[in-house]
Amino acid sequence: MNRTAYTAHAPSSGTDHTNPATANTAPDETPPGGEGPTGRGSANREHSPATVKVDVPGANGEDSPSTVKVDVRGLNFWYGDFQALTDINLPIYYQHVTALIGASGCGKSTLLRCFNRMHDVQGGNHYQGAIQMQPEDINLIGPETDPMLVRLKIGMVFQQANPFPKSIFENVAAGLRIRGIKDRTVLQETVERSLQRAALWDEVKDRLDMPAFELSGGQQQRLCIARTLAPEPELLLLDEPTSSLDPIATAKIEDLITRLGKEVTILIVTHNMQQAARISDYTAFMHLGELIEHDDTETMFTNPHQERTESYITGRFG
Ligand SMILES: Nc1ncnc2c1ncn2[C@@H]1O[C@H](COP(=O)(O)OP(=O)(O)OP(=O)(O)O)[C@@H](O)[C@H]1O
Ligand SMILES: [Mg+2]
Repeated sequence: MNRTAYTAHAPSSGTDHTNPATANTAPDETPPGGEGPTGRGSANREHSPATVKVDVPGANGEDSPSTVKVDVRGLNFWYGDFQALTDINLPIYYQHVTALIGASGCGKSTLLRCFNRMHDVQGGNHYQGAIQMQPEDINLIGPETDPMLVRLKIGMVFQQANPFPKSIFENVAAGLRIRGIKDRTVLQETVERSLQRAALWDEVKDRLDMPAFELSGGQQQRLCIARTLAPEPELLLLDEPTSSLDPIATAKIEDLITRLGKEVTILIVTHNMQQAARISDYTAFMHLGELIEHDDTETMFTNPHQERTESYITGRFG
């Protein structure tokens, strides 16, 4: 895959919410020069204090395909005294699907919840490092960054569909109303477009006033995806979105993710190796809170560089 790379100044090193003096510096993200992504074996990479070479959205400051939309740099995270993530370095490519795999308890959901500052709601949690989002170059976990602003930019869908106790229409419109959009035409157009993007429109267009709970489980999950898409998130986080669905509903969501992945930047957690192989462009493998390997999905599944990755994807542990 062809990527443009240039040297950007490292952002104000990392972030330590409790002790800035110990914050990590940005890692050396030597770009792939047209080969694979930069993250391979990234857990062991050396940190470089001054500059960081990284694929970032174009020099004009706008997003463009094949660039890094969000860059996780030297991320550590603690639940109280328990360190759940250790020195995670992971580029998330713009308008591509990145799959996060690894055994239960390795920290996949914990990593996902760092992106939208969900951990802030539990006292004693503590981030260190940086999650840098382009093109604004915001550190999503920086103490100076308002978590509400972060949540407006990032959408998340969970394992269990969680529609609001409202109509189908109002579920999809919810995020727009929070942003102060009241114009009926804008709401209607956006709800329709979002339901179409979530491949649900044809099934619900004649019953938009029906309570969302009357939809099937698979439809509820697509409704949650439509609700998340409506405000046009810059990053879509999906935490095992199909694990409670049957194969037909799963296939619909997989098709949807494959299509959406060409226009939205997606990070998806899955326990299903076939699913990761089918729908993702890049795959990251985690083990015990560390990122063991990250590469394009084909390489990860056919020629992984780390033995632990191979053992996991071939089912020898996990
Ligand atoms: N709220 C919490 N407080 C304290 N520890 C937690 C909390 N949530 C998760 N952990 C711990 O953090 C580690 C990572 O958990 P996490 O839920 O991120 O794993 P996971 O990879 O998503 O697992 P699964 O595949 O089972 O969903 C585990 O050891 C877990 O016990
Ligand atoms: Mg999880």
